Amino acid sequence: MDTYHLQMTFHAWTNAAPEVLVWSPGRVNLIGDHTDYNDGWALPMTLEMGTLIAARARADDVLHTWALRMNEQDNVPLTALQPTAAPMWVRYVRGVAALLQAEGYRIPGANLLIDSTLPLRSGLSSSASLEMGVSLALLTLARQTMDRRTMARLCQRVEHEIIGVRSGLLDQLAVGFGEAGHALLLDCRTLEIQIAPLPENARIVVIDSAVPRTLASSGYNQRRSECAAALQKLQQVDPTLQALRDVSPELLATEQGRLSAVEQRRVRHVVSENARTFASYAALQTGDSKHFGALMNESHASLRDDYESSAVMVDVLVDIAQRTTGVLGARITGGGFGGCVVVLVEAAAAASAQTHIVEQYATSTGYRATAYQGTAGAGLGTLS
Ligand code: GLA
Repeated sequence: MDTYHLQMTFHAWTNAAPEVLVWSPGRVNLIGDHTDYNDGWALPMTLEMGTLIAARARADDVLHTWALRMNEQDNVPLTALQPTAAPMWVRYVRGVAALLQAEGYRIPGANLLIDSTLPLRSGLSSSASLEMGVSLALLTLARQTMDRRTMARLCQRVEHEIIGVRSGLLDQLAVGFGEAGHALLLDCRTLEIQIAPLPENARIVVIDSAVPRTLASSGYNQRRSECAAALQKLQQVDPTLQALRDVSPELLATEQGRLSAVEQRRVRHVVSENARTFASYAALQTGDSKHFGALMNESHASLRDDYESSAVMVDVLVDIAQRTTGVLGARITGGGFGGCVVVLVEAAAAASAQTHIVEQYATSTGYRATAYQGTAGAGLGTLS
């Protein structure tokens, strides 16, 4: 729904105009996956798909939310939010409100009308988009401000404490700092962010494999634990290591005997993925799309073989994409275990490559993939 129709719907619902309109995008991670919670680097960009929220304060202390996408409503007093007891989508909304209150922010009762154009559970950060959007909407109604890094951390706490996924900060930082036409290099330790323009001669295509993200949260939490266990063992050799980010390829080579075979693979992914992410950023700065694409292909192999966070059908889709004329690189993106693939393709070949990949994939697997042209859209913000 566009902003005009959202405002009309809001008016019809509440008999008043919204005070605030918030845009909160989704993101696609171009490279650097499963590095953020190891204090490493990631290179995402915001999408033109995302969450749109119309909001207005109420005189009472009720939080009344209508999610248009599933046409469900939630109506709860701010004094009894109990987010963990609510249905899934409601947990994000109530969770943000509850944590804002716990942090001492006085938020008013509100009507929130939420619409989303993001595919759900596909690895494009529909949850972070919702969390960050609701935060900005409620804070704006409360006439309060919060810096984006603090907001990202608060929304990450929703994932940890209310949803039960021990995610890093990649998604929330990307949503909060996205810039049209640019990718972001996120340093997930210092939270410093640098931007680089997307290549002019290439296009980003995001393809939803239609493979449900089975094991997404359990597999994700398990990977985190494996990384933590490996770190502990390596800290016995070098107590100054704070995270897997600090592990050099040399240290890994000499000390890998201390790790189990699984841990060796996990650490090898993190160490090599950090290096690839840097190299990709450098490639963006020099406009070297070919090299960028080659690094994406390497990243996929590493996620598939070492991190084991891909899925069989997604590997088939990536394989088809990588063999398609004009494609420079393709990889699974985001948390993994299903979901979306991101493809870098020469601009002139983008449309035909997209069609070819979707058709080939349907022939090989019977799955119907959906492709989106991914231009980097604007980051989180209020609209006038
Ligand atoms: C999910 C998490 C992020 C990040 C990615 C993998 O999207 O929410 O924090 O760990 O997976 O890179």
